[in-house]
Amino acid sequence: MNKQIILLPGDGVGKEIVESAKLVLNTVASEFGHRFTFHQHAIGGDAIDQYGTPLPEDTIKACHHADAVLLGAVGGAKWDSLPAHVRPEKGLLGIRKSLGLFANLRPIKGFAPLLHASPLKEDVVKGSDILIIRELTGGLYFGKPSERREDGNVVVDTLHYQRSEMERIIDKAFQSARLRNKHLTSVDKANVLESSRMWREIVNEKSKNYPDVTVEHLLVDAAAMKLITQPDQFDTIVTENLFGDILSDEASVLTGSLGMLPSASVRTDGVGLYEPVHGSAPDIAGKGIANPLGMILSAALMLRHSFQMDEEAAEIEEAVNACLDQGYHTADLQMKDGKLVGTKEMTETVVENLTTKSVSNSICSMYV
Ligand code: NAD
Ligand code: IPM
Ligand code: MN
Repeated sequence: MNKQIILLPGDGVGKEIVESAKLVLNTVASEFGHRFTFHQHAIGGDAIDQYGTPLPEDTIKACHHADAVLLGAVGGAKWDSLPAHVRPEKGLLGIRKSLGLFANLRPIKGFAPLLHASPLKEDVVKGSDILIIRELTGGLYFGKPSERREDGNVVVDTLHYQRSEMERIIDKAFQSARLRNKHLTSVDKANVLESSRMWREIVNEKSKNYPDVTVEHLLVDAAAMKLITQPDQFDTIVTENLFGDILSDEASVLTGSLGMLPSASVRTDGVGLYEPVHGSAPDIAGKGIANPLGMILSAALMLRHSFQMDEEAAEIEEAVNACLDQGYHTADLQMKDGKLVGTKEMTETVVENLTTKSVSNSICSMYV
């Protein structure tokens, strides 16, 4: 298959890890006889520096015409004092909105060799396999007005959702739960927020169309606690934009590091943007020590969700598992008796495992 892929490295470690994904995808292409053509464009702080805007028209246009988009990360102290509408993060929010990517899938599954890498007890983490489905183009992130008033002493952010925006993400969540263990946890704050009350109503209405899926409602504060005390009680989680942002960083602790988590931002027709859950990690950027695995696993999600290349995606996931099994780890992963490596070496090890196919059989298709 021939595919056109847009690369948006962005800022900080984004630049380093997108290179890793490219190398791994080129290896997959030659192993499976595909042709991936990469086109690199600017976003975030990098785009502000080059073009004076975090999301140039040229980048938007290229993403709309591509088969899929891979994004590293945006942001950094250099741009933190800029006004909100020209911050790097606006570039990321803008491309998600422009492409209509309302569903952000964040799978959290511990790799067996990393069970002891979590600061949580091994028997708490064991068996956790969660898919967080985060609404991505509504809520507090996009509601208007969002402004400072009265000489800067009053602030307003608006949590805005249309019924149809809630319906489509909740449908997506039921459909995803169906392909997994058929248990959906809807997370909200219905004891306080009107938006959450409508959300809960819609979940209850929709559940009648999916009688095979069991539904549970949890308030977000309790969900945050349960996520790290009884993670094996979750299967699929659906929640609004901000709650999903926070809960997914928290859930990364189950895997040993934020650097391990991939994500897929999709709409209903398979078009997608794939990015790790973490940010530009300014504290380690430029040092060559960032964990590339969240990014590499995002490339695997791209193969599965946008290109229907299930076998190729599974091979990447198996190669990642094999590296960890062999003891390779970056500095963010606390591994006993492992081999500490940097971004480049970790990537080369994934590539080596892909080409020799000397993979362990302890996992097969990790993500749905
Ligand atoms: P962050 O996710 O960048 O970093 C949090 C911590 O995790 C840091 O200690 C960092 O070193 C570590 N970490 C993150 N990714 C890692 C990796 N691949 N390997 C090893 N360690 C890793 O969050 P932050 O520090 O709060 O934010 C930094 C900047 O990134 C901000 O400007 C923020 O807006 C932006 N951000 C961007 C995205 C994105 O582009 N998708 C996501 C989150 C934050
Ligand atoms: C993420 C990030 C972004 C978000 C920021 C950088 C706008 O935290 O992708 O999780 O909040 O969506
Ligand atoms: Mn986040």
